[in-house]
Amino acid sequence: MKTTVMRVERFNAAHRLYRKDWTDEKNQQIFGLCANPNYHGHNYKLTVKVTGETDAETGYVIDLGWLSSVVNKEVLEKFDHQNLNLDTKEFSNLNPTAENIARVIYDLLRIHLDKKLELQILLAETDRNIVQYPA
Ligand code: NI
Repeated sequence: MKTTVMRVERFNAAHRLYRKDWTDEKNQQIFGLCANPNYHGHNYKLTVKVTGETDAETGYVIDLGWLSSVVNKEVLEKFDHQNLNLDTKEFSNLNPTAENIARVIYDLLRIHLDKKLELQILLAETDRNIVQYPA
């Protein structure tokens, strides 16, 4: 039987949702307040879920202290207190929706994890808007 362990982290970042190839009117229509030209911030809550067999020797699925250090280096140091559109290479040409942020975070972390472990990212942009990747 497998077990899922989770590490919760938080970061604050600014963004704007828009497509350069759309008019301002269409961006406003599709993305609403998140298309405001002067950006706005969110307090993101990131839950990193790792699923696997519990190691017989350590009793761990994964060392959560180690996982936290990887999340800090790969995610928080890149995105915390940044403007995602202007300050990060990951979103210089990618709309920073919660869906896209979750997928980028997955890719940044996946390469560090043993292939036997499953990874899932939960990203809450507000306490009501939450995405999960992969579904
Ligand atoms: Ni927003």
